[in-house]
Amino acid sequence: MFFASIPTVTKEMAENVEELLTTAGHYPASDAPLFIYSYNLLTEALENKEAHVLEVCSGYGQLLMALARRFPKSDFLGIDQNDLPRPEAAKIANVKFQCGDAIDLKGLPDSYFDLIVGQATLHHLSNNLGVASREYLRVLKPGGKCIFIYEPLGHSWLVAAVRAIRTSLHEMVDESNLFMSALKSFGEDFSETQVGCFNLIGYFAKVIKIRRPGFFLRLNACDQCLVGWFPFLLKHCANFTVCYTK
Ligand SMILES: C[S@@+](CC[C@H](N)C(=O)[O-])C[C@H]1O[C@@H](n2cnc3c(N)ncnc32)[C@H](O)[C@@H]1O
Repeated sequence: MFFASIPTVTKEMAENVEELLTTAGHYPASDAPLFIYSYNLLTEALENKEAHVLEVCSGYGQLLMALARRFPKSDFLGIDQNDLPRPEAAKIANVKFQCGDAIDLKGLPDSYFDLIVGQATLHHLSNNLGVASREYLRVLKPGGKCIFIYEPLGHSWLVAAVRAIRTSLHEMVDESNLFMSALKSFGEDFSETQVGCFNLIGYFAKVIKIRRPGFFLRLNACDQCLVGWFPFLLKHCANFTVCYTK
């Protein structure tokens, strides 16, 4: 089953993940609704569980360390191709990091993880989505979830043009827009795919220097209304978070 929508994001949801949100401080404030929604997905998946959690492309590990602090009964493993400094990690008993390829999980057992998370990750793996999907299905338990947070959606020519200009200015590499068709085929062997889309008019709010999430929650509600009236606009959102259930 495949579902896609602009999710409702409330102040209560923001309060529930206030601490986790501080770890997303290096992303634009206009993306607050997406992170609030996504971090609520993570807390729902981990609440009252003793879970095994894997983060792929964990970078400096801020999100994983914050999750490990909030859920001390669960254990957390981060994998990134770069051996980055994470001095805080030594003080947190239930978190570990290792250097490696996000799509080559040979050393990890089958059906072991309850949750795989990736943040700003899937678009780095766009040349190998089939391999990634098979590998994540292998290491996930039945009913386990794979959640990719803050990914670029490429259907809007306007957003794609702005991104192309920004990419050429920053000389970034390996950053591909993703499309609904790719999300569907990644999820073919999962039982459910749920896509939360964000930033329709909200994308252009990146230039506004407001940092209050309340303003962006109202913009998200406007995006929701627009898509309610004109459903074809959904895929023109600039970003998404996707949750696959095995
Ligand atoms: C945009 S950063 C995101 C980091 C972190 N998830 C965050 O949200 O701050 C992308 C990360 O993916 C890692 N990466 C890219 N391709 C990878 C691969 N094939 N295997 C492991 N890590 C990879 C990079 O080293 C980088 O740390």
